[in-house]
Amino acid sequence: MIDRRLQPSLRFSGNGPGALAGPGPGDGPGAAGQPGAPEAGTRGRLLARGEAVTLDLEGDPVPAFRGETVAVALFASGARALSRSLKYHRPRSFFCLAGHCGACLMRIDGRPNVKACQTPCSDGLRVASQNAWPSAEHDAFGVVDWLFPRGMDHHHMFTGSRAMNAVLRKVTRQMSGLGRLPDPRPGNVRPETPPLRRLAGASAPDVLVVGAGPAGLAAATAAARAGARVLGIDDGAVPGGSLLADPGHGLAAAASSVREARAAGAEVRAASPMIGYFPEDGGGLAAIRTPDALWLVQPRTTIYATGGYDQNALFEDNDRPGVISGRAAGRLLVRFGVRPARRAVVAGDAPYAAALAAELAAAGITVTRTPRVQRAHGRAWVSAATLADGSRVTCDLIAVCETPAPASEPARQHGCAVTLQPARGGFCIDTDAAGLTSLPGVFACGDVTGYQGPDAAALDGARVGAAAAAAASAARAREAATP
Ligand code: FES
Repeated sequence: MIDRRLQPSLRFSGNGPGALAGPGPGDGPGAAGQPGAPEAGTRGRLLARGEAVTLDLEGDPVPAFRGETVAVALFASGARALSRSLKYHRPRSFFCLAGHCGACLMRIDGRPNVKACQTPCSDGLRVASQNAWPSAEHDAFGVVDWLFPRGMDHHHMFTGSRAMNAVLRKVTRQMSGLGRLPDPRPGNVRPETPPLRRLAGASAPDVLVVGAGPAGLAAATAAARAGARVLGIDDGAVPGGSLLADPGHGLAAAASSVREARAAGAEVRAASPMIGYFPEDGGGLAAIRTPDALWLVQPRTTIYATGGYDQNALFEDNDRPGVISGRAAGRLLVRFGVRPARRAVVAGDAPYAAALAAELAAAGITVTRTPRVQRAHGRAWVSAATLADGSRVTCDLIAVCETPAPASEPARQHGCAVTLQPARGGFCIDTDAAGLTSLPGVFACGDVTGYQGPDAAALDGARVGAAAAAAASAARAREAATP
């Protein structure tokens, strides 16, 4: 069960630039934002809220909007700890809001371990916490964390007595595992295998762009303008990537970049992650899971524009709910129009930290900047932070602004060489001046080659998109010349 303190909604109202919903019992869908109507978030930025829906949170109704994800709707309605961790039963909530950290796992619609930050809200959607009793906020098993402050080595506990060890093993087996098995499907029918769609040969795209953030969208636009047939894919429910987290951009900027790419002739598909690359299949196949089918694509050229992952900083209790990535705070503000805090600590010196702090302040939030946090305090949600200088400040959010780590796994699986560059976030894909990786016909641009930020990433994407289109055109010419 999840304790949902019946707080007023944290969503912005539509009262003009920078306006916030004043805390009051009438806030929430239907009061602090009519469904479907454009609203003003911070600095008058438009927010597109979908139809009002109601989630079923362990039998408790939670108002939400169709464009929101479950984690955001729960947070906006006052839920804090969403589940508990596997071993020590430490409270868990979201960290990245981008589907990358796995902190937000919940039981959703009868299925365990679903990412709440990636699950869109729908009417009547059943949502429940995991690994907690009687509630995620006050979990009785949380005592394990208190009893074993230096860690529990269950492999060597009670090994001196055979009987005690047998008891311990039984208890451990009962308590291990995360979540319960899925609810049986009605009639116990097996899920259908998704249909296959093959895009190869004449139907293959000239350029496959993996990632539709600022770099990917600019690459898709440039390649399409150069005459290439372009397929752009993104794992997010809405394309836009880091534009949706950046105070200088937002939903409208992302939508305009998508429109530009489509107007140039590119196909851009959301909710369609590339799930693998298979070099042994007919010269190389990318497998893409779209909402309605599994696509097997053999493009002439590929551009990896997969961006970066939000990273946490090292400090005591950095897993405490309320410690979130700076870009997650940006997503709450910029994409979802939800006020993330009343008093926030913005920690770290990543390039977007200053812009985030200014945006939080513009939303009426008291902001403390610090290069580093030493410790987070609190229980189910953060309540204070010890800063780099040893001072302690009261806060209800620690926004960690570390340099994002390049999301280079898909390109690495493809075979692209990478180099460890800690100052640029981690393992960056190696490219030449035109964005070509160590593999022929495979390009990379934007933050996956080392953190750049949205504006520089878009410039990089445009340059690399044109180069990939030229390479695809040459490949096409070779195909035509081959008898
Ligand atoms: S995966 Fe959901 S918050 Fe990170």
